[in-house]
Amino acid sequence: MDKKTLPFKRYTVTSALPYANGPLHIGHLAGAYIPADIFVRFLRLNSKDVVYVCGSDEHGAAITIKAKKEGTTPRAIIDQYHAQIKASFEQFGISFDIYHRTSEQIHHELSQEFFLNLYEKGEFVEQVSEQYYDEEFHQFLADRYIVGTCPNCKNEGAYGDQCEKCGTSLNPTDLINPISTLSGKPPVLRETKHWYLPLDKYQPWLEKWLLEGKKDVLKPNVYGQCRSWLKSGLQPRSMTRDLDWGVDVPLEEAKGKKLYVWLDAPIGYISATKQWALDTGGDWEKYWKQQADPAENACLIHFIGKDNIVFHCITFPSILHAHGDYILPENVPANEFLNLEGDKLSTSRNHAVWLHEYLDDFPGKQDELRYVLTSILPETADSEFTWRDFQARVNNELVAIFGNFVNRVLVLSHKYFDGKVMPVKNLLDEDRFALSELGRHAGLIAEAVREFRFREGLAQFMNVARLGNKYLADAEPWKLIKTDEERVGAVLNVGLQIAANLAVMAQPFLPHTAKRMFEMLNFASRDWTSAGNGQLLEAGHQLDAPQLLFEKITDEQVEAQLSRLSKAKESMANASNQVAEAKDNIGFEDFIKVDIRAGKILAAEKVAKTKKLLKLTIDTGVDQRTVVSGIAEFFSPEEIVGRQVSILVNLEPREIKGILSQGMILMAEDTNGRLDFVAPQSEVQPGAVIR
Ligand code: 2FM
Ligand code: ZN
Repeated sequence: MDKKTLPFKRYTVTSALPYANGPLHIGHLAGAYIPADIFVRFLRLNSKDVVYVCGSDEHGAAITIKAKKEGTTPRAIIDQYHAQIKASFEQFGISFDIYHRTSEQIHHELSQEFFLNLYEKGEFVEQVSEQYYDEEFHQFLADRYIVGTCPNCKNEGAYGDQCEKCGTSLNPTDLINPISTLSGKPPVLRETKHWYLPLDKYQPWLEKWLLEGKKDVLKPNVYGQCRSWLKSGLQPRSMTRDLDWGVDVPLEEAKGKKLYVWLDAPIGYISATKQWALDTGGDWEKYWKQQADPAENACLIHFIGKDNIVFHCITFPSILHAHGDYILPENVPANEFLNLEGDKLSTSRNHAVWLHEYLDDFPGKQDELRYVLTSILPETADSEFTWRDFQARVNNELVAIFGNFVNRVLVLSHKYFDGKVMPVKNLLDEDRFALSELGRHAGLIAEAVREFRFREGLAQFMNVARLGNKYLADAEPWKLIKTDEERVGAVLNVGLQIAANLAVMAQPFLPHTAKRMFEMLNFASRDWTSAGNGQLLEAGHQLDAPQLLFEKITDEQVEAQLSRLSKAKESMANASNQVAEAKDNIGFEDFIKVDIRAGKILAAEKVAKTKKLLKLTIDTGVDQRTVVSGIAEFFSPEEIVGRQVSILVNLEPREIKGILSQGMILMAEDTNGRLDFVAPQSEVQPGAVIR
């Protein structure tokens, strides 16, 4: 894409569909949402025809695993988090035209249509192969249901479809030492049939379209990843799964199978646009389909985090290409990752700044977070959010530079001229310089935003506020007022033109603040053609009352946030030490099958040639029997004779070291792995039922 202008008249902009399996944190905002929102707001200010779509990704193992963990249904999970995520986006002013969901009928239908289109063209390779299977849970293991060591970077937590550390896309059979995330056990292999997208067949096309065609377009981090995948050679990828949650594969012989979530999720961008068109009377095809005149094609831009690059640069474009009717992405400005206080953001470890908590703790301060995150966007490399840096940027930049300038110029205008804009009879050199700088900065900001360098765009915006501050400090209207009121009127006029420019230029970055500034300045919002115009406010224009735009973040606020993070760390550490996850529910019918009795140890002796085992003779009330128990490291035979125990009496007998063990003694294990007897507190008759 031409970097100097916005050559397209129509844009289709997408932000990655977040999984509706948990709340959003600052890493999400900094990855795919703030950059896209700045870009889209900028396009709209430049009168471009743009649709900006997003929605919840509601299929795949991310959802079903969460539902299982919480003992609820996928539907309950997606309904809860869809509503929460949507509300957070709204609060932060992420200006989607639609925030849709992939569980909607319209999405299922469109995904099936895509599948059938490719199926009927004979694009899929159908293959019966051996796949990993969890015998305990009776389920094939794909994607997040299986983890193991990444063959590429040796990360031990790689998923069955992708290593999130190095971004490589994987098949479960690529993993070294695979383990089922359901049972925690190594899986077995079983045959199953699936439909594969022949990425190997598309490789030559991808090399041309992507490696040759997008060399100067893609960000280096994105291009580099794509090149290295293509270099290692693409493999066919299964587009179907043996799962019970997702979009049904629309084939009779595939009954019970679902579409792979990474087939249906990006189609979610299109189904969201379709729904938006239905809601607004628009034409979705203009934003997605190839037009008879290629000059009429929309420019498709996907904003994502780096873990999604392969799906947006390789898989989805291959699907669109195989289909044939659709446009391809022009650019995929993926961001790297944001870290927090020296550590990776992590949902599972609760090491995050959650947006809903931020909104509770800092009401009305959405733009402060937008500002700080934009200042540190991980555009070319991973970056880091710290609460001290947040405080410093808000206090030293938003409050001391931007807020202070706008406040001073408005307060002085009210103080000296009852809030009226005064005329300028003679422009001095310093006035001309300040006004010309507005135009230059408007150009610098626009160029940076067009090229997805949002940090730089924001820095140039702050330079306009710096310029305003310096202009006022040099002119010293508070001193001059004693001798030259007319000149003070001129100085404040120039100062107000700078403030009005700041309102216009703030719109893509700080939409809430821009709105408040337009109110204070008492003029209607303007589009980007006004950026750099030094005569936005006419002489005689009446200003509204000034309000402070920003306030300082206190040390107490920072400390409260830091202590929340360290508490989360502590409680995670304790939880992982002490409490194993609850097992799946069992019915009462299963529970009553378990026969536990109070018993008494009549005799105990070490089992020869073992370290851990004791052979116990137990009076169960029902009978006297032998039990082999792994408690020798904690108890000597002498000390336990005569002790009361709880014994599971109807456990199938089994031979341990040549001794038939008939039952099991119940023991509790502490965080250090030490065992202790679980038994009635007071003496009861052997044979007493425990339930
Ligand atoms: O990584 C994720 O969170 C995915 N839910 C992103 C999907 S983007 C798209 F293709 F829908
Ligand atoms: Zn890896």
